[in-house]
Amino acid sequence: MVVPYTHEPFTDYTAEENKQLMLEALKKVEADLGKEYPLVIGGERIMTEDKIVSVNPSNKEEVIGYVSKANTELAEKAMKIADETFQTYWRSTDAKFRADILFRAAAIIRRRKHEFNAHLAKEAGKPWKEADGETAEAIDFLEYYGRQMLKLKDGMPVNSRPIEHNRFDYIPLGVGLVISPWNFSFAIMAGTAVAAMVTGNTVLLKPASVTPVIAYKFMEVLEEAGMPKGVINYIPGPGAEVGDYLVNHPRTRFISFTGSRDVGLNIFEKAAKIQEGQIWLKRTILEMGGKDTIVVDKEADLELAAESIVHSAFGFSGQKCSACSRAVIHEEVYDQVKDRVVELTKELTIGDPADNNYMGPVIDQASYDKIMKYIEIGKEEGELLVGGTGDDSKGWFVNPTVFADLDPKARIMQEEIFGPVVALAKAKDFTEAIEIANNTEYGLTGAVITNNREHLEQARRDFHVGNLYFNRGCTAAIVGYQPFGGFNMSGTDSKAGGPDYLIQHMQGKTTSEML
Ligand code: NAD
Ligand code: ALA
Repeated sequence: MVVPYTHEPFTDYTAEENKQLMLEALKKVEADLGKEYPLVIGGERIMTEDKIVSVNPSNKEEVIGYVSKANTELAEKAMKIADETFQTYWRSTDAKFRADILFRAAAIIRRRKHEFNAHLAKEAGKPWKEADGETAEAIDFLEYYGRQMLKLKDGMPVNSRPIEHNRFDYIPLGVGLVISPWNFSFAIMAGTAVAAMVTGNTVLLKPASVTPVIAYKFMEVLEEAGMPKGVINYIPGPGAEVGDYLVNHPRTRFISFTGSRDVGLNIFEKAAKIQEGQIWLKRTILEMGGKDTIVVDKEADLELAAESIVHSAFGFSGQKCSACSRAVIHEEVYDQVKDRVVELTKELTIGDPADNNYMGPVIDQASYDKIMKYIEIGKEEGELLVGGTGDDSKGWFVNPTVFADLDPKARIMQEEIFGPVVALAKAKDFTEAIEIANNTEYGLTGAVITNNREHLEQARRDFHVGNLYFNRGCTAAIVGYQPFGGFNMSGTDSKAGGPDYLIQHMQGKTTSEML
């Protein structure tokens, strides 16, 4: 028996002892900078000439690591090994054996938590608190999915008549392609990879190209925890080459993707096309972007509203699919909330996450350019209240930016910016506020700040998002507590960290024996 699941507690970095541990961990990570990393295929380390260069987004000159880059040949090699490992070994292993690897990996990460946090500060530009939340989430996925697998290992009960014995079991699918994003380069990468693996599938793991080193470190943890060779194969490489090749591959049985809407839709379309020699319909788990809204009612705690908007908009520089990028505020309290949002935004510190600032950089030049372009659009569409500037001389820093008085159909109210930019709009009443909140093609997260019980129920019914929060911000779902996933163009609503997540990586098999 394993102890019941509870989520990993967060570290209090205001405590001097923890602060010192983090500073030591940063030194340890710094001593490792600039190393070369191989691919891992069937347990074999393969160093390629061609490398992905992972840099610190706070300091472009600082190289985190040179990571070997897969190509189609190496992707094919990885597929053959993953397929063989699945057929000859992994699919028949005991679920308890697989779950134990996850529990051991969680324990290893817990012991090295500050080191992983420090690595996230360097490679992903995560401030300490955000990095700690992410490492805790990675541990949670391991602990939670391990336990979920133990619940599912004997299938589900079905009825039998006196003449027969019926069983309903879950069996694995085959080789899964796991493609992960950079913004939760540890937690989502680890969670999606181990969900596929603990259910008895073998995995081709293609992490995001800007944050590949953390995924290598996770591979090492899994190996230390006892994961056999060939079960998860680490193949960083260009999405357009390695990703496309494996999405199209006839032996790919399922694809678990987290990333942008456009790439997700491309995968959805390609996966639907049957390739020569393919004998199944590829399953797709696609978790994509968001345009998330906080609605503020007139009967509300306005301080809570302003705090929720600011922290949901600017935590990790707004680079969360769940980030608040729009606030729709009842006209009677609009000015009060707006003024307080501006005051709180001006208090935020921005700088190198290694120095524990509230906000760090954005991830790369492409992201910086895109956000600055949207800031120019925002200046045309609304009133710039604070921010609107950036500095990409050393790292990619964008100041927290607030626009007011937006038309609900304005581009910065509709399109995912994925940076520290929030747009405020006015609604004449609560019903109109919910209508505006629903007016994008996305449906990931949302929050409602109100003391009106009827309005909460109205939102529960009509606010069409996968994760809806009341009287709090719209980010920071916790594994096993707030299963996470969105509606409409936000994806397949697979609900990561939820009780039915693992089932999507398996297929149900009925056996009926005559007695
Ligand atoms: P992205 O779509 O650019 O990349 C995601 C992954 O897809 C990367 O590993 C990338 O290399 C790969 N890729 C790129 N082109 C590919 C192709 N043609 N075929 C196969 N793979 C390909 O996204 P990103 O910039 O890494 O992440 C940010 C996006 O992810 C945002 O839109 C954000 O909202 C979304 N996101 C969603 C969730 C969620 O749970 N819904 C969570 C985190 C991030
Ligand atoms: N799961 C992350 C959040 O809820 C994206 O913020």
